[in-house]
Formats: sequence, C-alpha cells, structure tokens
Amino acid sequence: MLDTKTDGVLLDVAIRQALDDPDLRARTEAEPTYAAGLIADARATATAAFAEGDGPALDAAHRTLYAIYAQHAWSPVGAMRDNQHDPTIAAVLAELVRGFEGWLAGFALPEAPPEEPEAFTAWLTDLALHRPMPELPSTGMGDFIRDEITLDQLKEIVAQRSLFFLKEPDPWAMVIPSLHGEAKAGLLDLLLDEYGWGRYDQMHSTIYEDLMGALELETGYDAYAPRTSWQFLAGMNLQNMYARHRRLCRRMYGYIYLVEADSPRAMKNYLGAWDRLGLGDDERITRFYELHVTADEGHQEVALDEIILPVVKAEPQARTDIARGVWEGRVTDELFANHRKDAFGAGRSSLCR
Ligand SMILES: [Fe+2]
Ligand SMILES: [Fe+2]
Repeated sequence: MLDTKTDGVLLDVAIRQALDDPDLRARTEAEPTYAAGLIADARATATAAFAEGDGPALDAAHRTLYAIYAQHAWSPVGAMRDNQHDPTIAAVLAELVRGFEGWLAGFALPEAPPEEPEAFTAWLTDLALHRPMPELPSTGMGDFIRDEITLDQLKEIVAQRSLFFLKEPDPWAMVIPSLHGEAKAGLLDLLLDEYGWGRYDQMHSTIYEDLMGALELETGYDAYAPRTSWQFLAGMNLQNMYARHRRLCRRMYGYIYLVEADSPRAMKNYLGAWDRLGLGDDERITRFYELHVTADEGHQEVALDEIILPVVKAEPQARTDIARGVWEGRVTDELFANHRKDAFGAGRSSLCR
C-alpha cells in the first residue's frame, strides 16, 4: 500500500479536521506545504483506492468524500458549513471524484442502449432488474434477509441505511433544476410523495425515524456514519456526486429509477424477515416497508414514463448517462450486499468498530 497519510493521519481524519477548522483559509495560506500535502495525499489515496483496490485506501477515500459532501448539506446552527468551498478542499474533492469516476467506468454497460425511446425504457427495466453483473455476482442477499437474517443483523442494516432514509430523498432534490417541462413535473410528483406532500408525519424519513425508535436505534442524522461500512458510503457518494456535478445529473435520473424499481421486491423481503422474527405485527416497524411496496410500484412508473421518457425524447444522447446511472447504482448496491454477505457469513458484524 502507498503511504497515504498526512502527518501520520489518514486522509479522512485530516480532511474532517480541515472541514471543522474555522481558520482553514488562513492556515492554508500561511502553510502552503499543509495544503499541498492534503492534495498530494488525496491523489495518492485515490490511486491506491480506485486504481489498485487497496481496502484501507477505499475506506479513507469514501469517508473523505462523504465528509466533504455532508458539509454541503444539512446545516445545524454553529457547525462549520463553508470550508467545502475552500480551494484546497475543492482540489481534494476533484482528485477523489476523478478516481471514483474512473473506477466506475471500469464497469462497462453490457451493450449500447437502444435508440428508440420506448425500446430504451424497456431495455432499462431489464438492465435494472434482470441483467447479471459479471464483475459483482449477485449475493442472494434478498433471500437471505427473508429466510435467515437475525434481528441484530437486520438492525445493522437499518442503522447503516439511516444515512439515506433519515434524509430521503434529499440528494435527488438537487437535480430538480437540471430538468424542465414534463420531466421536471414528473420528478416533483415523485419527490413530493417522498416528502409526504409537506406533512411531517407522512414524510418517508419520519416513518423511518419511527422504525428506528421502535428498534431503540439512534435517530440523529449520521449517528451511524462512523460505523457505516465504506461499501455503503460508496452508494451515498455516488448519489452526492451525481447531485453536485451537473454533467452527471442524467445519471441521477437512472439511479432514481433503479431504486424505485428494485424497492418493492426488497421491501417484501424485509417484511418477510420482520414476520419471521415475530415483529410483523408492530406497525411502527412494518409501516415503512409496507408503504414502499405500493408507493414504489407507482414511483418506478413515474421515473420511467414521466422523467426518463421525456428526457430521452428531447435529448437522445442522454440515454448512455441514464443507463450508466442504473448500472453504477447496481455496482454500489452489490458492493454493500457483498460486504454484508462476507461479514454475516463469517459471523462478524457488518458495522465498523
Ligand atoms: Fe420513500
Ligand atoms: Fe419511492
């Protein structure tokens, strides 16, 4: 492994310190070697992680990306919420994004997307739900969850997924301004449902918070981030990358479709697990999953017919990026599934210590 440490500190620790430093700008100006060291460290970490597949570097790279993107988002009073715009942090982010994008590009689409819009959406459904992914074979995690998972293992999944579901669907809202016309209305229709049409008790994130409360898990935003595996953070970073780099916004439309299309069958497996574990009658636990079995049947149609179809009719060259959003989303899903399979199979926790 390359030495990817700044002053003996891993990149993600060094960047979190920099993001929290109220005097970061003054420090990088007064100490050019400090700023240059962070950027060089980011480049070395990106190479070790994404070109060489080094595990600790992948962990550091994804924790760093997550920390920088998090500073763009939720903003508690008094928290540092400006250093993400610092030129040094921007340069660190650019190194990691270049590496992550290059790694994702290694997962080639099985073939070029069809040209005709209706044929394209039918092909996209097959790509999302049925195509085998040779580099990351399916783990059978859905069947495992339904038939075998233990309560502790299930709680670990709920805890890690809270990094998204307590904020669902915030990263998706970032691409509203990239759309216009019918496709923009389609996205808003889908997002308003996720946000409970403005009713706090109906927001999907509120219903997830109730689920976590019933399981006596911590419900603070990112409470579980330090213990969340980098394989799950990779999926969050994928969404945040699509959300914040406008040239990648079309991939988000494909990603949203993938999530909605895959959701009903996944949610049914979770419901099967809660039933088997004797918690199938607790509405605080089952409501989130039951709601999604029906809601996401509709959301996948909205994503396909009301967002993606009008986009490709107006802009046929968007097809490849939309398809890549589906395919890259499947890559990060399979990464997390493989991580859980390895951990649970070896009798280990899927959380980091
Ligand atoms: Fe939802
Ligand atoms: Fe949904």
